[in-house]
Amino acid sequence: MTDHPPPHSTTTPRPAPRPEELAWFRGAVPYIAAHRGRTMVIALAGEAARAAEFPDLMRDLAKLHALGIRVVLVYGARPQIETRLHERGLKPHYAEGLRVTDSAALEAVLDAVGRLRLHIEGLLSRSLGQPGTGNARLRVASGNFVTARPLGVRHGVDFHYTGEVRGVDTDALRALLDHEQVALVSPLGYSPTGEVFNLSGEDVATQVAIALNADKLVFLTEAGVLRDPHHGVLDQLTVPEAERILADHPDLPEELANHLKSAVDACQRRDLRVHLVDRRDDGGLLTELFTRQGIGTLVSREPLERLRPATVDDVGGIHALLAPLESEGILVHRAREHLELEIDRFQVLEADGLIIGTAALYPFGEDAAEIACLALHADYRGSGRGDRLLTAMEGLARERGIRRVFVLTTRTAQWFQERGYTPGQVEDLPETRRRDYNRARNSRVYTRSLGADAVPDQS
Ligand SMILES: CC(C)(COP(=O)(O)OP(=O)(O)OC[C@H]1O[C@@H](n2cnc3c(N)ncnc32)[C@H](O)[C@@H]1OP(=O)(O)O)[C@@H](O)C(=O)NCCC(=O)NCCS
Repeated sequence: MTDHPPPHSTTTPRPAPRPEELAWFRGAVPYIAAHRGRTMVIALAGEAARAAEFPDLMRDLAKLHALGIRVVLVYGARPQIETRLHERGLKPHYAEGLRVTDSAALEAVLDAVGRLRLHIEGLLSRSLGQPGTGNARLRVASGNFVTARPLGVRHGVDFHYTGEVRGVDTDALRALLDHEQVALVSPLGYSPTGEVFNLSGEDVATQVAIALNADKLVFLTEAGVLRDPHHGVLDQLTVPEAERILADHPDLPEELANHLKSAVDACQRRDLRVHLVDRRDDGGLLTELFTRQGIGTLVSREPLERLRPATVDDVGGIHALLAPLESEGILVHRAREHLELEIDRFQVLEADGLIIGTAALYPFGEDAAEIACLALHADYRGSGRGDRLLTAMEGLARERGIRRVFVLTTRTAQWFQERGYTPGQVEDLPETRRRDYNRARNSRVYTRSLGADAVPDQS
């Protein structure tokens, strides 16, 4: 008698997802949860719409919408307007960095902005209607959300139909967002007397974000991102730091300087976060919003606490943090030299240049890792930072494909138990760790197997 395979078995093994894909997805889950229901104003320049990758960008934007983010998209149309002017045999005229829009130029502006709006609507309409998405529809709504006033005559130059934002119809925008529509906002504003004004997309995005009290304002930049000659991309800036850069670097590309000024303005008026992301980075928007490290620059009013890998420069700070806990017997004593040797194992939570928390991860093969030295400065306890540190360490372990973490504790057992850790035995420890186990200290072992859940490390 021959053995028949069960009906659903297959001889060709299915390709397993690559570990980095799994890690990416698992890392993104907390951010997906944290961003759901949040309002984000995303600003792009007309140049973006001309790029070959623009449909990809629109698809990424549609993904934000599909993940429950309330998306307001603001677009500029400068190069499109230039083209229309050129077609009409008109020369662009600028003063103080702004277009002078006389009535002939206004026709070109209306034409360019209108066409671009249709182009974006078209791309967004088909962005979700892909096989496998259940023909999910994305509804886009445009409208007269922005009221404007003329710039008037400045330094003798009449700006005609160039205007500035006077007000934003937040009720209308919120109603659209409540109905799960993407709000598309053009660089045009309307006066109560029915005139149309040409506005800067940058100004519109900033004022809309402020008026809506948005959670985030994202500038998709054409001029790259801010870099520090020594440390690469400047990932986080407070308002004073952004102001300092503006003061110290008058040579900054005009576009980046404008974004920074807008970020300062928005952060001073609202407690929102402004992101500068290079539009040309494939998947940059998603990377910035859904990964711990991000890809661009984040400007915020207050310094953000930053969890980062420790370096030898942190040894003093870590030592100072752990020493009182060591003398209380809560943590095992570690000499400075020991910390230096093992600094690669440590993460630090830094606030305004100060080490306020730390934790270390000691892997034992792929099976298990120890989370050790989890500690917060006493002034910073009791407000969820311990959770953040623990979750981050678990996340690091997951990224390395580790299946189980454990802690050895004398006094914090309850805290770990409340976070899903279960009592274990010394015998359960990896062999090398078991050999080092200090019987006199008699710490209890708590373990947790790592699933896909995590708590956001949200910035
Ligand atoms: C343990 C520690 C990291 C928790 O950080 P935290 O930011 O204060 O923790 P959270 O804000 O997430 O949680 C605070 C809650 O845990 C409780 N908690 C703190 N330490 C605890 C302990 N040792 N046992 C039981 N519960 C504890 C607090 O009472 C608070 O409870 P509440 O919700 O009723 O207010 C921090 O208290 C610390 O650094 N302790 C000293 C070092 C230490 O014990 N490390 C563990 C080494 S194994």
